[in-house]
Amino acid sequence: MHTDTSPTVLITGGAGFIGSHLATELLQHGYQVRILDNLMPQVHGSERRLPDHLDRRAEVVVGDIRDPHQIKEALDGVDAVVHLAAVVGDRSSMYQIEKYMSVNTAGTAVLLEALLDHPVERLIVASSSAVYGEGLYCSYNGTVYPKIRRSPEETARGGWEPRSPDGEVIYPLPTPETKEVSPLSVYALSKYDQEEMCRLIGESYGIPTTILRLFSVYGPHQGYANPYSGVLTEYASRLLQGFPIRLFEDGYQQRDFVSVYDAARAFRLALESPGAAGGTFNIASGRPCTFRTVADLLATMAGRQELAPEILGVSRIGDIRHCFADISRAREVLGYEPEVPLEAGLLDLLTWVEAGIAERRKVPAAIRAPGSSRLRV
Ligand SMILES: NC(=O)c1ccc[n+]([C@@H]2O[C@H](COP(=O)([O-])OP(=O)(O)OC[C@H]3O[C@@H](n4cnc5c(N)ncnc54)[C@H](O)[C@@H]3O)[C@@H](O)[C@H]2O)c1
Repeated sequence: MHTDTSPTVLITGGAGFIGSHLATELLQHGYQVRILDNLMPQVHGSERRLPDHLDRRAEVVVGDIRDPHQIKEALDGVDAVVHLAAVVGDRSSMYQIEKYMSVNTAGTAVLLEALLDHPVERLIVASSSAVYGEGLYCSYNGTVYPKIRRSPEETARGGWEPRSPDGEVIYPLPTPETKEVSPLSVYALSKYDQEEMCRLIGESYGIPTTILRLFSVYGPHQGYANPYSGVLTEYASRLLQGFPIRLFEDGYQQRDFVSVYDAARAFRLALESPGAAGGTFNIASGRPCTFRTVADLLATMAGRQELAPEILGVSRIGDIRHCFADISRAREVLGYEPEVPLEAGLLDLLTWVEAGIAERRKVPAAIRAPGSSRLRV
């Protein structure tokens, strides 16, 4: 972006987990930040309070992405938009269909209509790895399978690993942006709607648009209700309270966990990189990791190795087996490089969760006996 004064970025959903980190990232790099967020109770509690950790230098407009008047007001004087506002999560989207399509799909439509009257230099959209469904697979002889789906009958029998249509054993590969999409939930479908709508309107009206497909983002300030890598917040919380982590299937499903600090930096790079316009980019760590590995790391760091994970041996409808990212396009075009190693990121998460537990028990961490923290590297 090129403006004489410091550019103003509107972050929709900016009071949420990723948005609050992004606000700080942008403010630290000389941007002015405005946030449009309706402080949804599912994320912000019934009192709909602004989070304490939100950078107070950010201007906040409390409003709904589906309200054209509030968006118009929020867009005044804005140079770029990062669109994060969404209802997040696969499972609840399968019974709250109207809610997901209303906020994610229709809300994006309202934003785009407002942008026609107020074009911006950049529109960055937060999409999700959920649009892929299962990741990419190949067989032993090199045949690539871009659209694999596990059969519910097979998973009900404990056949966790996907098979080729001929019943062959297949192996997961890093998933590139070129893989065919295959949304397996209403949430995933709504994220793909967002992508396609923004791409189409961006191209038609000359609004440089970039899609970031985020994998499992984790880190401090992630709501427990967030069904993504909120799973890591839940794991940490269970361990610190003396309960074992519960793993679906056999725990060997592979994912790609990316620190929220890396994700926030990726958004800034997308605003600044000349080649980003018109592109779709995976934002991840590029390092596959099983749920078992992450559970073991957390248990070791929390000093709770005796709490072996409970292997549930059941699969949930719509769960995928493996999906991890090929991030070479983001590396080449955005200059994106993940900087937070998983171990450091998990320790940061544990520290935050532990502080939250202490606060909820009304025993401020500051007055606990020195050295009482159980966290270990
Ligand atoms: N967290 C992840 O791992 C992850 C992974 C892939 C994609 N994403 C995407 O990143 C974005 C941010 O996710 P997050 O994890 O920060 O979620 P979050 O739930 O913490 O934040 C979403 C924010 O949007 C706000 N919001 C919801 N409905 C709104 C509406 N109608 N009008 C205005 N604001 C509204 C909420 O109040 C909340 O502050 C979402 O678009 C999500 O789909 C997140």
